[in-house]
Amino acid sequence: MKHLLSIADLSRAEIDSILTTAEEMHDVQNRQVKKLPALRGRTVVNLFFEDSTRTRSSFELAAKWLSADAVNVSAKGSSVSKGESMRDTLMTLDAMGVDAIVMRHAGSGSVAQAAGWVRASMINAGDGMHEHPTQALLDAHAMRRHLARNDLGDLEGKRVAIVGDLLHSRVVRSNVLLLNKLGASVVLVAPPTLMPPGAEAWDADSTAVFDDVLDDIDVAMMLRVQRERMSGGFFPSEREYVDAYGLTPRRLARLRDGACVMHPGPMNRGLEISSLAADSPRSIVLDQVSSGVAVRMSVLYHVLAGDSSTH
Ligand code: CP
Repeated sequence: MKHLLSIADLSRAEIDSILTTAEEMHDVQNRQVKKLPALRGRTVVNLFFEDSTRTRSSFELAAKWLSADAVNVSAKGSSVSKGESMRDTLMTLDAMGVDAIVMRHAGSGSVAQAAGWVRASMINAGDGMHEHPTQALLDAHAMRRHLARNDLGDLEGKRVAIVGDLLHSRVVRSNVLLLNKLGASVVLVAPPTLMPPGAEAWDADSTAVFDDVLDDIDVAMMLRVQRERMSGGFFPSEREYVDAYGLTPRRLARLRDGACVMHPGPMNRGLEISSLAADSPRSIVLDQVSSGVAVRMSVLYHVLAGDSSTH
C-alpha cells in the first residue's frame, strides 16, 4: 500500500490485514515486548496544518515504537506562518528524503492532491470535512475489542448510531464507508441543519430524532459540535441541542445491554455528551485512544514495511 488517503480506496482484505496487525501491535503498546525494529531507518513526518492531540501524538508514538524516526511539523511555528504554500512545504520536506508524510489540513481532498506532488507515502490524518480514515479504523478496532470482551460477536449485523454535528465531520464519512464494508449498519442522527448535503445517498439510515433509535443500537458514537467551523444558525441554543441530541444520563440509561458509548474526541462535556456517559462503564472512549496507537502502527507498517522504493 503506497498511501492511505481514504477508506473508499481500501479493499476488505486490506482492512482485515490492518486490523489484524493492529491486534499484534497492542503487545508492543502494552510493553509485553520491546520496541519493534520493523521500520528502522525510515522517517515519518507529522505535518499538521490544524491542531491535534490524539492523532499527532499517536502517530509519533507509533513511528517510534516501530523504530522509525519521527519529526513533527506544525503550521504554527513553521514557515507556513511566513506565507509558504502547502505545496512548497510538502516539496521541501520530501526533498529531505522522508519516507512518509502524515498530513492534516483544512482542505477536503488536500492529502490526495499532495500525493501527486511528493515521492513519500502520504497518510491522511484528516482533510477538511472529507475523511479521517485512521479514526474510522481505530473506531472499528475499538468496537471489535469491546464486542469480543463481552462475547457479543463481530461487527457484522451490528447497528451504529452516529450522532451530532455530521455536517462538519470527516469522522462520519470514513465511518459510514468502513462500517458498511465490515457489515454493520449505520443510522445518522442529526438536526436537519447539521445533516451533510447528499447524506441521503450514503449507505445509511437517517433521523432527526435521537430518542427513536436508542433502543435499537449497539453503539452510540457521539460527535463533537464543531463550533469553530460554524458561523451561527446551526442550532437554536445549546440547551435545545442537549435536550434533543445530547447523550444525557436519561438517554444513557435507555441503551440496551452491551451497547457502548464512543466519541473520537475532543469532547464537549455537557453538550453532545454528559460526563456521566463519557465516564460510564459503557464508555470505550479511552479504548479508542489506545486503539489509535496500535492501528497507526499497523498503518505505518502496511505503508512502509517492505517498500524501500520511496527514497
Ligand atoms: N479524534 C481526533 O482526531 O483527535 P485530535 O484532533 O486530537 O487528533
